[in-house]
Amino acid sequence: MNSVKRNIKSISSETLNGKNYIRNDFARNILNYPAMMVPSVQEPIIEKLSFALKDNVSMIDPFMGASNTLVTGMKYGMNVFGQDINPLSLLISQVKTCIYNPQELYEAEQRIVSLINSDESVSIEISFTNIEKWFTKNIQIELSKIYRAIRKEPVLKTRKFFWLAIAETIRLTSNDRTSTFKMHMRPIDEICLRQVSALKTFKSIIRRNIKSIDEYINVLESNGCLNNGSYIKTAQVLWGDSSSEIRTNNTFNLLVTSPPYGDNQTTVTYGQFSYLPLQWIPREDIDDAISIDYLLKVQSIDSNSLGGQIKEKIKDVEERVFEKSRTLGKFINQFKGGERKKAEKVTRFINDLDTSIDKILPKMENNSYLVWTIGNRNVNKQVVQNDSILKELFTHKGISLFTDLEREISNKRMPGRNNFSNMMSKEKILIFKKPF
Ligand SMILES: C[S@@+](CC[C@H](N)C(=O)[O-])C[C@H]1O[C@@H](n2cnc3c(N)ncnc32)[C@H](O)[C@@H]1O
Repeated sequence: MNSVKRNIKSISSETLNGKNYIRNDFARNILNYPAMMVPSVQEPIIEKLSFALKDNVSMIDPFMGASNTLVTGMKYGMNVFGQDINPLSLLISQVKTCIYNPQELYEAEQRIVSLINSDESVSIEISFTNIEKWFTKNIQIELSKIYRAIRKEPVLKTRKFFWLAIAETIRLTSNDRTSTFKMHMRPIDEICLRQVSALKTFKSIIRRNIKSIDEYINVLESNGCLNNGSYIKTAQVLWGDSSSEIRTNNTFNLLVTSPPYGDNQTTVTYGQFSYLPLQWIPREDIDDAISIDYLLKVQSIDSNSLGGQIKEKIKDVEERVFEKSRTLGKFINQFKGGERKKAEKVTRFINDLDTSIDKILPKMENNSYLVWTIGNRNVNKQVVQNDSILKELFTHKGISLFTDLEREISNKRMPGRNNFSNMMSKEKILIFKKPF
């Protein structure tokens, strides 16, 4: 066995299963985004591949989510690039890949808190359909005070940091349940009895986040990744639909990603999770170049994500994709009638995933490594073998598996009660190598 493979295979199952992971490290702390990667699981893989690439690494994550992968790459002094279709993912990633001066954040915190404390206005800054359903009047008033104070901050990078804190405040103080990523209102009697304050929540989140940033800056500093307060390499994150375009002219020798496991509506509704926070964050403070109308409907982000749109006839999609993946063809062909209709979503998702791979591959250099973490799921009580399907898609493009690992996913953040229970308890880490 070649030595890179041997090194990767030697990673212990305790590490892969996240037994010794740190729950409160910087990467996970800033905002609890759905299905985040556990950094300590990826880290040994990234470290070993970085060594194999002689520490000269440019890494891409085309489905960056909360950008934990990119943050891990930065700890190893890599050039990092990430993209995601969800504007909230972009905001999280902008904050997490930016080098802040903690002292400046403390000063901004004081300005913002003092503006909030002296603000006696009861006017509401935001209006959208059903706002009364999702926020009590008092929470709307408190969020409006926070909103006005953040808007007065002159520096965009600073505002982004505080918008992220308002996003988490909204998640914790709205009438939406936190036990599921789908929007689902709490019962009225529970809402009436709840004692929550957006102001108190916001203040404690900013304290925690500044502390986390401070710790992360110290890690980068002690790893020699900072020079005069700036990151020594490049870190770029953009909004983008990875099945349409990878928005960079750069090339990469390492890809580390965990794509969705199916269309968002029936797996993880990243878009619904983000809908309420995004109502309160000005679009121009995230990125003017976002080209979808993400606030149009609760489902707008999810229906623009992989597998969310009906772009062509299912027969045409099947013909093309089944040729690339026999496993998918066999899976779909076992169903008839309503079950077959339901399973069509899997075909559309795999087709979009395949299109994304076609956009990604030209950006990958020869001899580059591609690390894909993917889990299987159930549809119509049958297992969709995403891992085998992904391998077949790559084989069809002339790229074979380099090596693989398996891990338990009990530690990956999943909602307690929603249709994710139809997912598996294990996921595969598939490592491909683009041939010379
Ligand atoms: C499993 S999460 C990524 C988790 C991430 N690796 C982390 O550690 O936080 C999958 C991400 O894919 C994104 N996504 C779905 N469809 C996309 C598309 N067409 N283009 C770009 N990103 C997409 C979702 O918004 C979500 O953030």
